[in-house]
Amino acid sequence: MLTLTTIAGVRSRREEAARTGVRIALVPTMGALHDGHLALVRRGRELADEVWASVFVNPAQFGPGEDFERYPRDLERDAALLAGAGASVLFAPATKEMFPRPSATVVDLPALTGGLCGAHRPGHFRGVALIVAKLLNVVQPHVAVFGAKDWQQAAVIRRLVEDLDMPVRIEVHPTVREDDGLARSSRNAYLDAGQRRAATVLHRALQRAAAAAAGGERRRAALEAILAAEVAAEPLARLQYAAAVDPDTLEARESVSGRALLALAVFVGATRLIDNIVVEVP
Ligand code: PAF
Repeated sequence: MLTLTTIAGVRSRREEAARTGVRIALVPTMGALHDGHLALVRRGRELADEVWASVFVNPAQFGPGEDFERYPRDLERDAALLAGAGASVLFAPATKEMFPRPSATVVDLPALTGGLCGAHRPGHFRGVALIVAKLLNVVQPHVAVFGAKDWQQAAVIRRLVEDLDMPVRIEVHPTVREDDGLARSSRNAYLDAGQRRAATVLHRALQRAAAAAAGGERRRAALEAILAAEVAAEPLARLQYAAAVDPDTLEARESVSGRALLALAVFVGATRLIDNIVVEVP
């Protein structure tokens, strides 16, 4: 696996790939890789000839008081995992390479970011949309692969690409879970043993609400109350939001029908975890 740290280096390798007709899948990450990321790499290999991964802890998507400073960083380990999963290129730029000066450009999708995580992390999705737009412009992949755990992020990126006619397919891969249902996340590393047990409440709550939806519960407020009640029953957990919304527009309607996204953000200790599930409401 080739490791590149400069935009110029990526562009020159990209030109070479274009000359030989190699199709590229990009897996953008912030490092601290786990099986969920490696599943994205494996999916990328099914969709393209080469998988290129990026590791960049993007300061633009962290708010004041969030975990930018303590976000786990171990590039050597990440590189070994990516190489093992079959990635061909790792792009690991320094902050100065991506942001030689503060961006004067704002990439904002207010229609998709007013609710869910966007309501609690002001500016977060502007930071995500900006860095993803930059990475797509630098790498110019044929396909880019993201995880469904960050559902709102994936919805934002899909719409960004559609609105700006960016010539890339966005692939969203199902959430990878631990045996007990906890969604794989780099932030799980912050949990102590008791918190790790408590964190299974997200999956449990989603399963309960999904069962209610499968049983015909259509009232948004009732589904959200089921999610909230399950989280409230776990002493180490504190609910940030519970939502039942349209999976594409992320709009909340009084009554859900067809497909619905059930989504949660929960603090377990100081660690903020998110999870979601898409259900068919009969
Ligand atoms: O999902 C992530 O890890 C990040 O938000 C992303 C897409 C790599 C942008 O920094």
